[in-house]
Amino acid sequence: MTDTRGTAGGFETRAIHAGQDPDPLTGAVVTPISLATTFAQREVGVHTGFEYARTGNPTRRALEQCLASLERAAHGFAFASGMAAEDAILRRLVPGDHVVIPDDAYGGTYRLVSKVLAPAGIAWTAVDLTSVDALASAMRDETKIVWVESPTNPMLTVVDIAAVTQVARARGACVVVDNTFATPYLQQPLTLGADVVVHSSTKYLSGHSDVVGGFVATNDAAIAAHLGFVQNAVGAVPSPFDCYLVLRGVKTLAVRMDRHCENARAIVAMLAEHPAVGRVLYPGLPMHPGHEVARRQMKGFGGMVSFVAAGGEEAALAIVAETRLFTLAESLGAVESLIEHPARMTHLSAADSPLAVDPGLVRISVGIETVDDLVADLRRALDEADTLDETPPGWRGALHRRRRRASDTR
Ligand SMILES: Cc1ncc(COP(=O)(O)O)c(C=O)c1O
Repeated sequence: MTDTRGTAGGFETRAIHAGQDPDPLTGAVVTPISLATTFAQREVGVHTGFEYARTGNPTRRALEQCLASLERAAHGFAFASGMAAEDAILRRLVPGDHVVIPDDAYGGTYRLVSKVLAPAGIAWTAVDLTSVDALASAMRDETKIVWVESPTNPMLTVVDIAAVTQVARARGACVVVDNTFATPYLQQPLTLGADVVVHSSTKYLSGHSDVVGGFVATNDAAIAAHLGFVQNAVGAVPSPFDCYLVLRGVKTLAVRMDRHCENARAIVAMLAEHPAVGRVLYPGLPMHPGHEVARRQMKGFGGMVSFVAAGGEEAALAIVAETRLFTLAESLGAVESLIEHPARMTHLSAADSPLAVDPGLVRISVGIETVDDLVADLRRALDEADTLDETPPGWRGALHRRRRRASDTR
């Protein structure tokens, strides 16, 4: 996608209309799922802009135009997953180059960099990006990319995107921001100076736990040319149906995000008071180290909350096994609430590495169910964890109770 329509209007207007004019043939107000793999040419090279569906597809183009508009980008590219999108960007690196990643990067990003890029001759350093001094001293002449996540998964660390960009630019490196947690509704990294923004559209953009996808946007023509080339040459493209699902999801992104933020606020207030919780990680809390930066660069604090169980790993495992409305599952960003244990689930790939996660950490993706029900569910699980000593054998007992409940209701 290299031209963007629908750049006018507010966020919600663009989410619903950008790239999605009524179908010129039928007037259909919903973008058709275009299944054709090939497109007729009047003469050799004379066509409607589509030739072969890996190279370009009308449903995908609508999605790319819509998401690019939301990220205030001139160019957008959809991929088959968030990791495929990350891979497409990182293919700009050649042997001898160096990339900086956050010291609490998403586990999959860490795995891609340390297990795929490193053996191919690309050096990397994990840095605490909340410190511009730490970043400045990690920068090398060979550093081509500074990879930012904000807020991070799962520690909810907030990085000052404008400050990091200044340091990276001064050394000739480009800044990529993984905006999956914030979404363009809450934060637009390109307007803060970043060069590239990347998403796992599997999460909030689609919002219903029914599609895996990725997206990259940029205003840099050279980076766009690279991304378009890789998208076509490697071919990790999303199916037309998946593009339709993300387009459908994104229409309600704004209202969903407002409710995710509101529900998260109420849950955080309960967690902060609960004796089974040692520490709550949420950028909306005034004591969060990134609170002021988050207030500056985000419109709201998001629907992701992490906390450290006061009773450590055993308590954390008991809590995630005990909730009923919060489903124990990986992933995040959808209408239903999810809970997980990062050290043994999403971030297992970072185990025994400098990026290993506290085993007492619990991550929740706050959904848009009735907030009182969510608070009650989590409070009950925490109450149980708080009495762990009296209910041996700990999380195994909780797991057993959960299984018993599930079979009772089948
Ligand atoms: C912050 C972040 N970035 C990237 C990804 C990778 O996305 P996908 O699972 O769609 O490949 C994830 C997945 O959880 C993520 O949380």
